[in-house]
Amino acid sequence: MKRRILDFLAVIKLKGGETRGPILCFVGPPGTGKTSLGQSIGRALGRKFIRMSLGGVRDEAEIRGHRRTYVGAMPGRIIQEMKRGGSNNPLIMLDEVDKLGTDYRGDPASALLEVLDPAQNFSFTDHYLDVAFDLSRVFFIATANVQDTIPGPLRDRMEIIELPGYTEHEKLEIARRYLLARQKQENGIPEDSLRLSDGGIREIIRSYTREAGVRNLERELGSVCRGIARKIARGETETTVVGEENIADFLGPIRFRWELASEEDEVGVATGLAATAVGGDVLFVEAATVPGKGRLILTGKLGDVMQESAQAALTYARSRALTLDIAPAFFDKNDLHVHVPAGAIPKDGPSAGVTMATALVSAMTRRRVRKDVAMTGEITLRGKVLPVGAIRDKVLAAHRAGSRSVIIPRDNENDLIDVPEEVRRDLSVLLVEHVDEVLKAALHSEKTAEAPRLEPATSAN
Ligand SMILES: Nc1ncnc2c1ncn2[C@@H]1O[C@H](COP(=O)(O)OP(=O)(O)OP(=O)(O)O)[C@@H](O)[C@H]1O
Ligand SMILES: [Mg+2]
Repeated sequence: MKRRILDFLAVIKLKGGETRGPILCFVGPPGTGKTSLGQSIGRALGRKFIRMSLGGVRDEAEIRGHRRTYVGAMPGRIIQEMKRGGSNNPLIMLDEVDKLGTDYRGDPASALLEVLDPAQNFSFTDHYLDVAFDLSRVFFIATANVQDTIPGPLRDRMEIIELPGYTEHEKLEIARRYLLARQKQENGIPEDSLRLSDGGIREIIRSYTREAGVRNLERELGSVCRGIARKIARGETETTVVGEENIADFLGPIRFRWELASEEDEVGVATGLAATAVGGDVLFVEAATVPGKGRLILTGKLGDVMQESAQAALTYARSRALTLDIAPAFFDKNDLHVHVPAGAIPKDGPSAGVTMATALVSAMTRRRVRKDVAMTGEITLRGKVLPVGAIRDKVLAAHRAGSRSVIIPRDNENDLIDVPEEVRRDLSVLLVEHVDEVLKAALHSEKTAEAPRLEPATSAN
């Protein structure tokens, strides 16, 4: 990633500051350094840095200006910012291109396209100024959290560079080298008043934050520093050593439980992995049997694709009832209820297929699911496991949550290259082609002794 950016900058320097060619677009979860990287590039090129947020911009006129006949007319944001910056070759960062809106007032994406197009932007016309303005010396960099909501034509014009989430190890390094020093400085803490051990930093990462980037980590480091500042204000001048044992004195009770694996294995709850705008996250799929007629009940505001995926999971489970030791009459007496609890997880996409199948089979067979096994994969009606996206983010999320093993589709094997070595070392990765392999790895083989809460059909014939 760094290489590509450096190559890019080298080319720009060679061409004497001319920036024809693709526009860079940094894509990654919040707090992974997109904006700061843009600032550094601006510094390296000796250009003025201007940040323009496009989140929620719906109106073409915001980019291109209003015609003067319009009451309250104004020039567009690009020209305003250029004027304010007082430079004709700044670096303009177009933040959040993935959150650009459209409505009846025109399409801001197409105005932006004109801004970015080297064949047109030497004579960009702002409707308000109504004279051509040369934007060809401006260096544009865009940022986005996710790729797929960037308007297509815009995306085609840009060179996408992914800044994926950090591993625990990378976060520790970043905290040690930059964040702690910065927070000490901002809070006026003399260098030797605070010693924060690696164990302490790791505890903050694990128990006080759950994020792909480092923004909350930096905030928590700030809180520790303010705690130290208060001590200094009280006249306590000796060095404070902070480690995992006393971090709670500064940050309060832990906020996230690290050891997912220490939770009890249960019937009907499977650990899945989802791609989210903030990186990746674990999600739990719950399934239960209730008296009924073999219907599938879905709750948790699931999107269409996820509903179909649940249906496929159920159909598969039914087709394998015999092998799985589920009495055929089971489906005449029971409905299956699948629930995906609320949370910041987008509830759509097919990648929870294997997780739903596991939760369902667990509920039907009363076999407990191993909590420390996290999984992702789409399934077909016949139980084949198909590849899914965002493997790196998902594996990192599993690692963050303390999973011991991760099940991913065999066809995603190549994506493991992107998973850092130190994460691979902590996790066992199981590549699967079929849901049967998932069930074998994730479910305990014995049925729970506890009688099913609801009468299964077996006793009823
Ligand atoms: N690799 C890194 N080294 C040092 N500091 C970093 C690194 N990555 C992120 N940071 C710090 O984390 C904070 C958040 O970074 P930044 O604002 O650049 O994130 P972002 O990717 O633009 O996030 P968003 O998508 O929310 O806009 C900044 O204070 C930045 O200095
Ligand atoms: Mg940013």
